[in-house]
Amino acid sequence: MDKKKPVTNITSMLTETRVFPPAKEFSKQAHVKSMAEYKKLYNESIKSPEKFWGKQGKNELAWFKPFSKVMQWKAPNAKWFLGGKLNVSYNCLDKWLNTPTANKAALIWEGEPAAPGKVGEERTLTYKQLHHEVCLFANVLKRNGIKKGDRIIIYLPMVPEAAIAMLACSRVGAIHSVVFGGFSAQSVADRIQDCQAKMVITSDGGFRRGAVVPLKKNVDDALMIEDANNGLLAKTIERVVVLKRSGNEVQMHTGRDIWWHEEVSLVDAHCPAEKMDSEAPLFILYTSGSTGKPKGILHSTAGYLLGAKITTKYVFDIKDTDVYWCTADIGWVTGHSYVVYGPLANGATSLMYEGAPNWPEPDRFWRIVAKYGVTVLYTAPTAIRAFMKWGTEWPKKHDLSSLRLLGSVGEPINPEAWMWYHEFIGGKRCPIVDTWWQTETGNIMITPLPGVTPTKPGSATLPFFGILPEVVDDNGKPVPKGSGGKLVIRKPWPSMLRGIWGDPKRFVETYWSEVKGSYFTGDGVRQDKDGYFWIVGRIDDVLNVAGHRIGTAEVESALVSNPKVAEAAVVGRPDELKGQAMVVFVTLKTGVKASEQLKTELRNHVGKEIGAVAKPDDVRFAEALPKTRSGKIMRRLLKQIASGVDIKGDTTTLEDFSVLAKLTSDE
Ligand code: WTA
Repeated sequence: MDKKKPVTNITSMLTETRVFPPAKEFSKQAHVKSMAEYKKLYNESIKSPEKFWGKQGKNELAWFKPFSKVMQWKAPNAKWFLGGKLNVSYNCLDKWLNTPTANKAALIWEGEPAAPGKVGEERTLTYKQLHHEVCLFANVLKRNGIKKGDRIIIYLPMVPEAAIAMLACSRVGAIHSVVFGGFSAQSVADRIQDCQAKMVITSDGGFRRGAVVPLKKNVDDALMIEDANNGLLAKTIERVVVLKRSGNEVQMHTGRDIWWHEEVSLVDAHCPAEKMDSEAPLFILYTSGSTGKPKGILHSTAGYLLGAKITTKYVFDIKDTDVYWCTADIGWVTGHSYVVYGPLANGATSLMYEGAPNWPEPDRFWRIVAKYGVTVLYTAPTAIRAFMKWGTEWPKKHDLSSLRLLGSVGEPINPEAWMWYHEFIGGKRCPIVDTWWQTETGNIMITPLPGVTPTKPGSATLPFFGILPEVVDDNGKPVPKGSGGKLVIRKPWPSMLRGIWGDPKRFVETYWSEVKGSYFTGDGVRQDKDGYFWIVGRIDDVLNVAGHRIGTAEVESALVSNPKVAEAAVVGRPDELKGQAMVVFVTLKTGVKASEQLKTELRNHVGKEIGAVAKPDDVRFAEALPKTRSGKIMRRLLKQIASGVDIKGDTTTLEDFSVLAKLTSDE
């Protein structure tokens, strides 16, 4: 986006008219039952935030020492629940010990390896058992010199020990930084170096699509990478704890590497939780954003936990009987807030699955839903579009009637994908919560409440309690309903990031300089006449075509609404006449052939759906789109391809993104 261009608002053209009110039976049993109730609580939370949050903090969290002040706000620095002392693992585990929840499943885990038509290895840990495991491992941390405030890298597959390691860190007051198991040795080394970590917790390997990912080997390599002065990048590491998972051979370095199973046999399970300040750092999570080196997003103890807890309760309407499954990897913030901390702080049952959705066949998710009677499913649009591509025969093979609520996160969900999810997974009976939030926000910010909010496919709808989002123009002025602009958050909230690790200047520049006094999200958005928010994509990706600023999401949604299209990505390339020309990359449904005629058809389809100004100048077909490891389309890369040399010359040939995707797989 060119900042010197005159101020123009984002043109928004997609008009989605379908509305799905919540079913009466759902509303009746929900934590929040009516729009009136939501509005009353919401207004209270905005008008008297200290009163609202003070009450939530007191009622929802267990304190060793109560807080004396609800908040202190000196933009851009917020402090919440000042003077209070608590522990996250205590709130997730000990709190349930002398209650009926103690013997309930905290984690249900399924491993990836499975023959076609079969289910995989299964493990269940009750709250009592999980508490025991966490205490043991916390003592292992202490035995190995870990103190309050030390940084620990967790580089594990999706196994219960990943959650155990996170909770053990929080128990002793160490700051964890989970690195997604798909990242390379270099990424591990960079993150160790940035946060000066003392320990890495990893495993021999992890299973992914039938292959073994050599995690320990990657750590060995990471610890050998040199910096610019020929020193070691990751020289702060004193210990590597290795979990045995895949059974492949690994090299253990004496004096540095230790086995998880050997270490836990040397300690007892008595480990009182450390009394932590409300504002003590809980974790750092690296996020790359669109440019530059990854930012270490820092989250706090009390504010973060409260946010994760109450959003899980109200957005997923969590009940004691739920089998709740968030499919995100714990390497992402969604895995932190909605696989581990949110569900456990509510005493819920959280399901973890180790592997890929299409291993050994494209029905693995549905097989798992049926096997465990999953009631709440939370996944990403990228997965939903893949399921659409694989065909409805896969979910149709399984009994999905246990599901009562569905969720989506990570990207705008195209109305077409929303409708598919609604019909083929939700059986037209489950509300869908399309939840907008970010690594930085810590918890869900804009979302329907399932018993309250009439949903519109493609809209994240309304703000959660205490959240004050606004749509503003380039000068920071609110824009009228119906036009697009930048999404900012006007008020601080408990789970907001507390900074970028080691880089306060970048924190201010990235989030607090764009619009004075407000948190800038980096997203483009429009609010409709009912006040519903529609995310139109990242501001950096907004196109400027002949004076119209057009968000990526609407054009992509229009393309996906054509039955031949599986997935689409829209980018701009410089154009002398129009400023930018619109290039779309399209993947087709299985069995559909690419042709010049189809290009014309798709251009006309977009013209018809949203207007002539949004008609793509160029349509290109691709086998697959390059994505980040968390499934977001990499428009930045596509932009370069669109404005650069044509890779294959012939415009009808398929672009080969696999190579490019590999080159940039650490984004
Ligand atoms: C995008 C993931 C539209 C958005 C929790 C945001 C969404 C970025 C939605 C954060 C949604 C996430 N609708 N867009 N429901 N959810 N996004 O940090 O651009 O991995 O800024 O956090 O994803 O991604 P992150």
